[in-house]
Amino acid sequence: GGGGGVEPVRPEFRQPLVVPRVLSGSRLRVRMREAPVRVLPDGPATRMWTYGGSWPGPTIRRRAGRHTRVTFRNDLPRRAGAMSVHLHGDHHAPEHDGQPQTHLVRRGKARTYDYPLTFGGKPEPSSFFWYHDHRMDHTTRNNWRGLQGMFLVTDGKDLRLPTGVRDVPLLVGDRSFTDDNQLANPFAHGPAMHHHGGKMMFTGPNAPPNDITVGTHVLVNGRYAPYLDVTATRYRLRLLNASPFTAYNFALSDGRPFVQIGTGNGLLREPVVRDTIVLGPSQRADVLVDFHGEVGQRVVLESVPLPPGTPGTGVRETSLMEFRVLRKADDRSRLPASLPGPVPVRAPSRVSKTWTFDLHGNPDTGSFWGINGKTFVDTRMDHRVRLGSTERWRLRNTSDMTHYVHIHAEQWRTVRRDGKRPPPWERGLEDTWRVDPGEVVDVAARFEDYTGPFMIHCHMLDHEDHGMMARFEVLPPR
Ligand code: C2O
Ligand code: CU
Repeated sequence: GGGGGVEPVRPEFRQPLVVPRVLSGSRLRVRMREAPVRVLPDGPATRMWTYGGSWPGPTIRRRAGRHTRVTFRNDLPRRAGAMSVHLHGDHHAPEHDGQPQTHLVRRGKARTYDYPLTFGGKPEPSSFFWYHDHRMDHTTRNNWRGLQGMFLVTDGKDLRLPTGVRDVPLLVGDRSFTDDNQLANPFAHGPAMHHHGGKMMFTGPNAPPNDITVGTHVLVNGRYAPYLDVTATRYRLRLLNASPFTAYNFALSDGRPFVQIGTGNGLLREPVVRDTIVLGPSQRADVLVDFHGEVGQRVVLESVPLPPGTPGTGVRETSLMEFRVLRKADDRSRLPASLPGPVPVRAPSRVSKTWTFDLHGNPDTGSFWGINGKTFVDTRMDHRVRLGSTERWRLRNTSDMTHYVHIHAEQWRTVRRDGKRPPPWERGLEDTWRVDPGEVVDVAARFEDYTGPFMIHCHMLDHEDHGMMARFEVLPPR
């Protein structure tokens, strides 16, 4: 039962979906350790680096406005080194942000991350964050090995949306395996294949190692081709693309639409009906799927090609998981006509900072990704902003492939996408944007509560590890 081969396009769904166990409370403990995980249906379990013994790690759930402290202890094998845990999407101080080079969790030691209720004095929206390793140069490896988990904030204003077993968080990620089901190691140094000018090329002796970390198997909540038994009712699915590099275009096999109600950072102002949803690395979508009248049906969650002519880098075509609609059941959920999404903000008309995502091809050293013509160094500080100010930033992609750009610290509004009003599903709060080659996306946020350094980077982890990262600093008010 080795996993070494390439997955079939339409697999057999033979393992039940696992929903990670939930942790809640104001003081939590999670031990990072190596553990066997049942990923593939047959053969040995896969040894992974985990948060709390599973991949994904436990799902942390907290009520909005509650203070959460999570103590992460690093009991990983020696070769893992120090770790850094980033709660992606949350708003917190830089020393609790899990940045790549500071405030690390050393081996044999623990660090307590403080995730307070502060949100610029406003009520914290219900949201779908995730936590993952962010260690300098090793983020791709550490995520690949399993250091990933989900984090839900619920604010009690979730109306009559599906709850309990009908609220299912789904972490999607790809991995490759050796013949005895262990994780393949795509991170060996040496000449690597590289994407440049639309084709693959080999680069020189100092090239970064593998720059396109893609697995043969796509997994949902850490399992290959799982199924979930459901009733003929409405379900809420929280979709997270936790792949290092790959994007997916989510769809349902019988053509039924998703009703998108939120982003990873809270609900929208109104539901949006969508046949397909593209999510790049770290993007999330909060959707409803209605199985009414479908008893006996099997519905596959899949990733389908983008329509021909779509600009930018494509998505992976694959089957993800199967829903088996077993029987009827009571359904008290409602699809509201309007949602308590964020009120529109007035964005400044002036752009205070332009971030250009670019490539420095160099045939001798290999190519390095950059921002504003510079690859990442820990001394770089690209922009300073005052606490309490609202800024409009411009994200520009001058390279020849799509990037998924993430900004730490605040939750953002998309002001303009290519000069136009953003599509309805991009009118909520955001922290990660798809930016196609040649595209320009303007975003705005108010800087609140915390001063200090924060990161901006591409969330394709290979690009982040290979230099496409920069820093900005929030200064105290003048
Ligand atoms: Cu999810 Cu700086 O990353
Ligand atoms: Cu990128």
